Amino acid sequence: MTLSPQPTTTSAPQTAPAPQPARLGWPRGTADLRYGGDYNPEQWTRETWLEDIELMKQARVNLVSVGIFNWGLIEPRQGEYDFAQLDEIMDLLAGAGIDVDLGTPTASPPAWFWKAYPDSRPVTRDGVPLGFGSRGMASPSSPHYRRAAAAVTEQLARRYADHPALAMWHVHNEYGAPVGESYDEHSVSAFRGWLAARYGTVDALNSAWGTAFWGQRYQDWSEIDAPRLAATVTNPAQRLDFARFTSDALLECFVAERDIIRAHTPQLAVTTNFMASSCPSMDYWKWAREVDVVSNDHYLTAEREDNHILLALDADLTRSLAGGRPWMLMEHSTSAVNWQPRNLAKRPGELALNSLSHFARGADAIMFFQFRASRSGAEKFHSAMLPHAGTDSRVWREVTALGSDLAALASMRGSTVDARVAILWDWESFWAQDLEWRPSVDLRHRERIEAYYTALWQLGVTVDFVHPEGDLSGYDALIAPSLYAVTSRGGRALTDYVRGGGRLLVSFGSGLVDEFDAVHPGGFPGPLSEPLGLTIEELLPFRSGETAALDTGGTATVWADDIRLDGAEVVTRFADGRAAGEPAVTRNAFGAGVGWYVSTRPDAETLRGLVARVLGEAGVEIPGPPEGLEVVERSAGSARYRVYLNHTDADLTVAASGRELLSGAAVTGSLTVPARSPRIIAL
Ligand code: GAL
Repeated sequence: MTLSPQPTTTSAPQTAPAPQPARLGWPRGTADLRYGGDYNPEQWTRETWLEDIELMKQARVNLVSVGIFNWGLIEPRQGEYDFAQLDEIMDLLAGAGIDVDLGTPTASPPAWFWKAYPDSRPVTRDGVPLGFGSRGMASPSSPHYRRAAAAVTEQLARRYADHPALAMWHVHNEYGAPVGESYDEHSVSAFRGWLAARYGTVDALNSAWGTAFWGQRYQDWSEIDAPRLAATVTNPAQRLDFARFTSDALLECFVAERDIIRAHTPQLAVTTNFMASSCPSMDYWKWAREVDVVSNDHYLTAEREDNHILLALDADLTRSLAGGRPWMLMEHSTSAVNWQPRNLAKRPGELALNSLSHFARGADAIMFFQFRASRSGAEKFHSAMLPHAGTDSRVWREVTALGSDLAALASMRGSTVDARVAILWDWESFWAQDLEWRPSVDLRHRERIEAYYTALWQLGVTVDFVHPEGDLSGYDALIAPSLYAVTSRGGRALTDYVRGGGRLLVSFGSGLVDEFDAVHPGGFPGPLSEPLGLTIEELLPFRSGETAALDTGGTATVWADDIRLDGAEVVTRFADGRAAGEPAVTRNAFGAGVGWYVSTRPDAETLRGLVARVLGEAGVEIPGPPEGLEVVERSAGSARYRVYLNHTDADLTVAASGRELLSGAAVTGSLTVPARSPRIIAL
């Protein structure tokens, strides 16, 4: 969950994402899929714990995340530890055969910490120090916080290293939310150190940041501040670097805890829960290299009708962060959350459809926030596996049914998902694009990613996400939906990709700047000019609500470019409007591949047709499932499984043969997937 809007900023990659290291991989123990959720026994009596554990067994829960918010309980005064309650919980869970994903509680320091170290309070961009009485970490650069976090982590790791319940470690909770950037004095001085390490000299920084503009030149590191709220727009390169610094500072906190834990339990996996597509302030490509297993939290935006598609996007991004390996859905909700404007309950069956969509896309652990709904505090209206209404409830029945379904799917554990198409995703480009004073507020990376992803979802094509400087070699086609910042290195990688036979589809507003938010020499679209065979003379954003007709049919909104063709052929032109006669879609045969450019925001049907054409030319199979049917394949060696999820109110029938795993029934030739239900076939 993103509890509050995060500050945004930009940057382009400092270093290309390295190949994923060999991972320790997975919670120790059972060969089953993992099922469970956050468990916060400190909110309940011992009697309730006993009941909870019985109910967990009923629901086939085999993993719970414990201790995420219990710092004040286990260290009531600085340096004084009391593990009596946690010991008992761990023992009870071990006795019931339920494994523990043990949390370090460092996302929420206790009252004594804030009293002793008020200078560790995070400070907002407009200078407000944040108070206690909520949750959220201290300034990641506070030496007091880092010392206190290390001390409590050391105690936990030492105490529970050999505990039979301990299956893995859950460091902190959702780094970056609710506190991302902090403008406190510890952060400012750490930022200066980070800049000195990055640039070496103040002159190099001046040049990278373009400080000749508006007379911002620095003579000494000590003159440099965090990009606080200022009279008007702050230097964008400074904001980008502060965003990079923030992600790095939080990552240092994770690595410090992880390494303490590893010293005690080198055999156990350590993770921290990401918020793949919903945390704007972490560069998860970097983070993914540091965890032993990728885990993710995902919550629906309840009011969006297409939220099953957005869920799939998030799951595909998580699998991509995991380098294709199985990952853990660490949190999602059984029904409503409590922090959106209107917290809609899930419809009957949606709990399973959501869970199995994550599973179809590579999650081998399905976990919820949280096991038992809290009676007090800010989250009492949040759903849970065990709702306030108890076991005689729809949610509990669906929770226990899902537990059985996952048990029936154990044979699929470890199988993987293959994608021939990838969408480019770069947090630094998001940071850059979301700053002020862009050509149009309608130029939105996320909106374009969702539009292209939706087209692919509807065509039934499974996609990965990849960093422009990541490994592009396995893909028949790549899509760059308004990738605002592209480094020279990224540009070279994409050019080589096309030259070598790849198909690259680029949408407007891409390659406008480099990693310092500076325009590439020669203008737009920077290093993408060559593979696309064109140069943009002028950007022609539309008025709000303005539309234009396309000469091959369909309408365009938001954007056009004044294009000079340098080899590309025109596929579609604007038929009217401010860009009448200008190319709207171009195609450039380049080397052994093709670079496509879309200079506008076509309507959804036109976009889907275009995507199908590009993929068709690239030789990608387009299954084209019935509308509303999600179909994803997982495989392991010669074993192939197909997951069908019907998101509509009508039964849908498709051709299929094999064994249906949830029922054990044989399927011969045709499969009916009932409305709002899943079917999973071993082919
Ligand atoms: C998550 C968080 C949980 C809980 C949940 C509610 O972001 O990690 O602790 O607050 O949101 O949706």
